[in-house]
Amino acid sequence: MRLPLTLLCLVQAWLVASQPAQLALNNLRSISGSTLSNPATFSLPVSTSPLSISVALCSAQSSYPPRFFVANDSTTQPGPTELGQPNVFEIPLENGLGSWTGRMDVIGILAIFNASQTSLEVGVSNNGPIHEILDSLPLLGDTTSNQALLFSPPFSPPEVSTPTYPNYTLPPANLTFPAAPSSPPNFSMFVAPTTSSALASLPRTGCAMQAVQQSGFFYEPSAASEGLWLRDTNGWRWQWFINYLMPETNYTVYAVQNETKVAGPINFRTKTASFSCPIVYSLPFCPSVAYAAPLPVPGDPEAGITAETFPEAASDPLISGLANFTVMLTTLACGRDLYSPIVTCADCQAAYRSWLCLVSIPRCAEFPPTSSSSSSASTSPLSQPTAQQPLPALLPQPMQTNTSLQRNPNLPAFPEPWTQLLPCLEVCNAADRACPYFLGFQCPLPKYTAQYSYGVGYIDSGNEGDMGGGSTGAADDYWGNVWCNMG
Ligand SMILES: *[C@@H]1O[C@H](CO)[C@@H](O)[C@H](O)[C@H]1NC(C)=O
Ligand SMILES: *[C@@H]1O[C@H](CO)[C@@H](O)[C@H](O)[C@H]1NC(C)=O
Ligand SMILES: *[C@@H]1O[C@H](CO)[C@@H](O)[C@H](O)[C@H]1NC(C)=O
Ligand SMILES: *[C@@H]1O[C@H](CO)[C@@H](O)[C@H](O)[C@H]1NC(C)=O
Ligand SMILES: *[C@@H]1O[C@H](CO)[C@@H](O)[C@H](O)[C@H]1NC(C)=O
Ligand SMILES: *[C@@H]1O[C@H](CO)[C@@H](O)[C@H](O)[C@H]1NC(C)=O
Ligand SMILES: *[C@@H]1O[C@H](CO)[C@@H](O)[C@H](O)[C@H]1NC(C)=O
Ligand SMILES: *[C@@H]1O[C@H](CO)[C@@H](O)[C@H](O)[C@H]1NC(C)=O
Ligand SMILES: *[C@@H]1O[C@H](CO)[C@@H](O)[C@H](O)[C@H]1NC(C)=O
Repeated sequence: MRLPLTLLCLVQAWLVASQPAQLALNNLRSISGSTLSNPATFSLPVSTSPLSISVALCSAQSSYPPRFFVANDSTTQPGPTELGQPNVFEIPLENGLGSWTGRMDVIGILAIFNASQTSLEVGVSNNGPIHEILDSLPLLGDTTSNQALLFSPPFSPPEVSTPTYPNYTLPPANLTFPAAPSSPPNFSMFVAPTTSSALASLPRTGCAMQAVQQSGFFYEPSAASEGLWLRDTNGWRWQWFINYLMPETNYTVYAVQNETKVAGPINFRTKTASFSCPIVYSLPFCPSVAYAAPLPVPGDPEAGITAETFPEAASDPLISGLANFTVMLTTLACGRDLYSPIVTCADCQAAYRSWLCLVSIPRCAEFPPTSSSSSSASTSPLSQPTAQQPLPALLPQPMQTNTSLQRNPNLPAFPEPWTQLLPCLEVCNAADRACPYFLGFQCPLPKYTAQYSYGVGYIDSGNEGDMGGGSTGAADDYWGNVWCNMG
C-alpha cells in the first residue's frame, strides 16, 4: 500500500523540521524571536565537562514571556508537559536572564517557547555560563552637580610580595604601579536616571542595555574610559569620568563585562547646582582618593583634577611627609620582629598612606535634602517602621582667606564656604593598629574629641576596642549614601 502523496510530503517536512539547528560549544548566538517556530528546537553539543546553557532576553518581555527547556538526551522533545522526566529541565528566567549547568553525555535539545515577541541570546559553554549576574559591584567614586566618577568591579589583583630583612624596600611615596594586565576584561558602563520608567522593565542583560543604549537611553561614558587604575589590593578597575548629568538626580549604574556578564545595579545621586568642589582622582601617591575636594576648578572642568593638575604646593609636602615616615619606619622597625609578628612595615606604610591622604585632601559633601516628615508619619499600624537614617559626618567649613588657619595649610584657599565629609575614624585606627607604637601615631578617643575630626560610630561602634557594630556598618551603601570618608 502506498501512502497518499500529501501525507508523504508531511512526513518529509517533519523529517526536515526535526533536524534542529545546532548550537556550537563556547559560542554565543543572537536570535530574533520573529524568525523562530513555536516551539523552536536547537541541538546541544556533547561535553565531557559540565555544559552551561544561558539565555538572555534583549527586549522587554511581553505578557507571555518566552520559556526555555533543556533535555540532556536526544530522544525527548522537552516542553512544559515533559517536566518531571529525569532528563528534562526548565531554565528559569529572572529579570530576563537564566542558565542551566549539568551533564551532557549525549547530544541534547534546547526548546524555546513563545519567543516571537523578543530577540534573545543563547550561550553554550563548558566553562561556566556565558550570561550571568556578577557578584562584585561597580564602585562610585563621587559626584558633583553634573559629573560622576565610576569604577568597574575589580579584576586581576596585584601580586603582593612582602619585602624581607635585610633588603627591606618599601614602595616609594609617589607610587609606581606594577604592569597593568595585558588583556583586561572589557567592561561597558550604563548610567540612567533611576526614575526612568523603561529601566524597571528592562531585562538585566547586556544585550538589552546595548539595544536601548543605541536609542540614547543611557548616558554613554566615553567608551575608552579613563583607563585602568589600581585603587587598592582588590585589583585593577576601569574608571569612567562622566559629564553632563543633571543636578539632584538619582542615577542607576550597571557595568557589563564582555557584553554578557552584568554587575550592579548601584545608585548615586548628583549634588545641587551650587556644589562647586571638583573631583580629584588618579593620584599615584594617593591611589584611593576619588572624591570631590575643596580645590580651585581646573582649567578643563570636564576632566576633574588629576596628578597633572593637582597643586604641587599640596602634593610635595604630602609625598615628602610620607617619604620621611617611610625612612623613620625602615630605620626603626622593619623586617626584624621588633614590633609585631602579625603586621608588617608594608602594612603600616599602606595604612599610614591611606590616613595621610584622607586627612590631607579633605572631601566635600552636602547635607542631605531635608526629607518631608509628613509622608513617613503614617498613622497606619500596618506600615513598615522605617529605620531612622543616620546623618553623615558633616562639618561646615567657613570661607577661609588665611590658608594658615586651614586644617591643611598647603591647600590653596577655597573661595566659598563648603561642607566637609570627615574621614572615618576606622582609617586612623587601622594605621594605629598597623604601626609600631614607638612612632607615636595616635588617634583621638571616640568618646571625647574624635567627632571634631572624624566620622565616629558608623562602621565600628563608638566603644573603645569594639570592631563592627556601628550604626551603618559601612562608610557607604549602594544606594549612594555616604556617611564618612574612606576614600
Ligand atoms: C542528565 O542530567 C542529570 C542531572 O544532572 C544527570 O544525572 C544525567 O546523568 C544526565 N544525563 C545525560 C545523558 O547526560
Ligand atoms: C505561550 O503563550 C500562550 C498564550 O499566547 C500560553 O497560553 C501558553 O501557555 C504559553 N506557553 C508556555 C510554554 O508557557
Ligand atoms: C632589594 O629588593 C629590591 C626589590 O624588592 C630589588 O630591586 C633590589 O635589587 C634588592 N637589592 C639587593 C641589594 O638585593
Ligand atoms: C609621581 O610619579 C610620576 C611618574 O610615576 C610623575 O610623573 C609625577 O611627576 C610624580 N609626582 C610628583 C608629585 O612627584
Ligand atoms: C574587548 O573589545 C574589543 C573591541 O570590542 C575586542 O577587540 C577585544 O578582543 C575584547 N577583549 C576581550 C578580552 O574580550
Ligand atoms: C533618590 O533615592 C533615595 C534613596 O533611594 C530616595 O530617598 C530619594 O527620594 C530619591 N530621590 C529622587 C529625587 O528620586
Ligand atoms: C568574551 O566573549 C567572547 C564571545 O562572545 C569569548 O570568545 C571570549 O572568550 C570572552 N572573553 C572573556 C574574557 O570572557
Ligand atoms: C622631611 O624631611 C626633610 C629632611 O629632614 C625635611 O626638610 C622636610 O620638611 C620633611 N617633610 C615633612 C613634610 O615633614
Ligand atoms: C593668618 O593667621 C595666622 C595665625 O592666626 C596669623 O599669624 C597671620 O598673620 C594671618 N595672616 C593673614 C594674612 O591674615
